[in-house]
Order: sequence, then structure tokens, then C-alpha cells
Amino acid sequence: MSTETILKGQVLSFSRSPFDEGAPQDAAQLSEAVAIRDGLVAGTGSLDDMRALLPRAPLVDHSDKLILAGFVDAHVHYPQTAIIASWGKRLIDWLNAYTFPEEMRFGDRAYADELANRYLDLTTANGTTTVCSFCTIHPESVDAIFAAAQARGQRIVAGKTCMDRNAPEALRDTPQSAYDDSEALITRWHGVDRLGYAITPRFSPTSTPEQLQAIGALWAKHPDCLMQTHLSEQLDEIAWVKTLFPQARDYLDTYEEFGLLGARGLYGHAIHLEERERHRLREFGAALVHCPTSNTFIGSGLFDMAGLMAEGHRIGLASDTGGGSSFSMLRTMAAAYEVGQLRGTPLHAAQLLWLATQGSAAALRLEHKIGNIAAGMEADLVVLDLASTPAIAQRTERAADLWEAVFATIMMGDDRAVAEVWIGGRAV
Ligand code: GUN
Ligand code: ZN
Repeated sequence: MSTETILKGQVLSFSRSPFDEGAPQDAAQLSEAVAIRDGLVAGTGSLDDMRALLPRAPLVDHSDKLILAGFVDAHVHYPQTAIIASWGKRLIDWLNAYTFPEEMRFGDRAYADELANRYLDLTTANGTTTVCSFCTIHPESVDAIFAAAQARGQRIVAGKTCMDRNAPEALRDTPQSAYDDSEALITRWHGVDRLGYAITPRFSPTSTPEQLQAIGALWAKHPDCLMQTHLSEQLDEIAWVKTLFPQARDYLDTYEEFGLLGARGLYGHAIHLEERERHRLREFGAALVHCPTSNTFIGSGLFDMAGLMAEGHRIGLASDTGGGSSFSMLRTMAAAYEVGQLRGTPLHAAQLLWLATQGSAAALRLEHKIGNIAAGMEADLVVLDLASTPAIAQRTERAADLWEAVFATIMMGDDRAVAEVWIGGRAV
């Protein structure tokens, strides 16, 4: 049986990147309604046109609320949900003090199931419909998040985090077990329903060269998988990488040497890049993932969005939960704006919305399926109330145009701004 719905509101879609030549706001178009059939967008346009397209579809009237593609969070650690907002440490100490003890619990499937569902409940409430998550070294942690997403009909990407050194004994695998466990998970989950696998070396300090070699070989054997890792997040980390890999030309080279640089690669943070690294990442069309709440929270530095965009990099946006301090992509966009301000390059609201939808979808190489509202794309949508609190409502009242109102919700909004979320053509 066919399921059909028409949503009326201010339906926002992008016809190009707002970072390209031209006024950022001209990259976006508004229409009156979106028609949904069998989990896909059937069309956008006037309400009359959508009624003509789907004459029997029930109408959900969202009046002047903003309807856009569901948010895509391109770099998260769902196992860090319960330790989000842990005080006072920088990257390496933060990993040792808070993260690794919590990640040790994910060998317990029941605990992993509980946290996977809690994480997806929290992110859905914030309008996020797709995430790309690191798991822990335990295959159980991967099964848990994929099973939870599958039950919800959600498109997600995830992978087993591989580590064979500089981590507690209980969180270490080996080159061979990382290869075998990851491959078994690829076989079980990659391409099943809406699920995709990301081969996941945590970062080069926690993998031996032998493990990076094995993971590189695995990616070469499964080139349609994504590969996600961390790159150049903190200066101490970069100095450590130089001592661990004395032959490497730079941090990126520790991946490149082992076949872990590619167009389907996602490199989280990428703050303190050297010229050669920028050049190679651009040459390969690899994705950089900006995690602004994390970068300010852990004290990592200021991502060069304007410079990297001008060079033509592929860039996504992410919360980096729980190094990031929020589950909300609104809060993440606000932090991206603030980081831009600190670098003297403020981002337009259209650029922020694009990064949180199409930009992140493109980083995951899913831009033809999710991250925009257009005929044939999957119907993952978020409905935003642009007057969700008294403080925002009084600012929106004064807004000269839609973008001023949208910007107030980006800067001050939270899950109260999320009026409704649609996943795969169903309201959740
Ligand atoms: N680098 C290696 N692991 C992590 C992690 O879990 N969070 C962040 N922010 N950076 C990392
Ligand atoms: Zn991370």
C-alpha cells in the first residue's frame, strides 16, 4: 500500500552550494509544500500543484514553519553519550580520563543497546536524521547502533573503532582482529536497508603501522565503504604523532602511507593543517569534518572554513558528541558561526543550514539521497518553529526577512525549535 502525505510550510531547498559564487541566500529556494510518497520526496511546489500530484494524500499544515532536510551529523561518537560535557581536560587527558573508561562498557550488548537507543532518541529530538558514528572496539557496539537505526528506518553510517596501542588493554584489538571483525561487520550491515559502513581507525596514535596497513588493505578490498578517522585536532596530538611516526612527512602522511587517504575518507577536525596536507586532501576530494562545539570545548583551535572552502574542499559539519558539548545541530551551527567570527569570516545562515544538511551529506557521499528536499530524495525532514521560545519569538517578530529569523533560531534555538521530524517519509 502506498503511503502519501503533503506537508505545507516554508519548504527550503538548495539548488547550489551557498559557498559558491553569488549571494549565499540565492542558493536556497522556498516553496509552499512538499509531497511525500513511499518514503521519498515526490515533489515540491505550490500547494495546488502538490494536491494535483497526490490527490488522495492527507495534508499536514505547518503554516509558516520552516521545513528543510533533516540534519546530517557527519562525525559523532554515540558511545560518549553518557560522558558528554565532562570538565576540564584537553584531548589526550580527556580520552584517558573520561572516554576510554566509558567505552570499555560497550562489550556488554545490553548496555550498548540502551545507549544506542538513548543516543538516537536525543538526536532525533534535535532534528538529526542521519549520523556517522564511531563505535568502540567491540563489534557489539556496532551491532547495537545499526540494529537501533534499522528498527527506526534511519539512514546512518557507523563502524568499529580500531585501536591496538596507546589505549587500555581492554580497549585494544590487533591488526588481524581489527581486519576480521570489521570485515564481518561490513558483511552483516553494509548496504542493508539504509545502513552504511565506515572503516574506522580511531586516529594514528592508537594504531600501530601494522594495524594501519591492515585497515588500508581492508578499505582497498571494500572501496565502497567510507573510512573515518581524526586528523590534526590539537597541537600536542600532532607533536605526539611526529614522535610515533618519525618517517612521516606530516600527520596526514600517517594515513596516506597506508592507503587511508581517499575520496570516501572523512577526516574529523583538520584544524592545524600544513600546506601539503591541504593540497593532498583537496587532490583526493577527501571530506573534512568541522566539529566546532568540540573544538572550543576541548580547546583544540579554530577551523579555517573560509580558507578551505575557497580552496574547494569538501566539508561537513558535526557535533563530535561527546567531545562536542551538544547533541544539537542548531547549537553546532551557532558554534560554527562563532568560530567563523573569531577568524573574521562569519558564515551566512544559508551556509550554516547547507553545511548541516547538504554539506554533511556530501561528506558522506550521500548527497543524492539525503540532505536536501527534491523529487526522488529520501523524505528525511525537520520542521522548525522559528518562534519556539519567548526570546526567539520577539527577535523573529522584528526580523526583516526569513534569514534573520532563521539566524535567531540557529543562534538561540534548541530541541524546542524542532516541531516535527520525518524519517523515511514517516513522522517520528
Ligand atoms: N581523537 C581520537 N579520539 C577522539 C575522540 O573520541 N574525540 C575527539 N574529539 N578526538 C579524538
Ligand atoms: Zn571524534
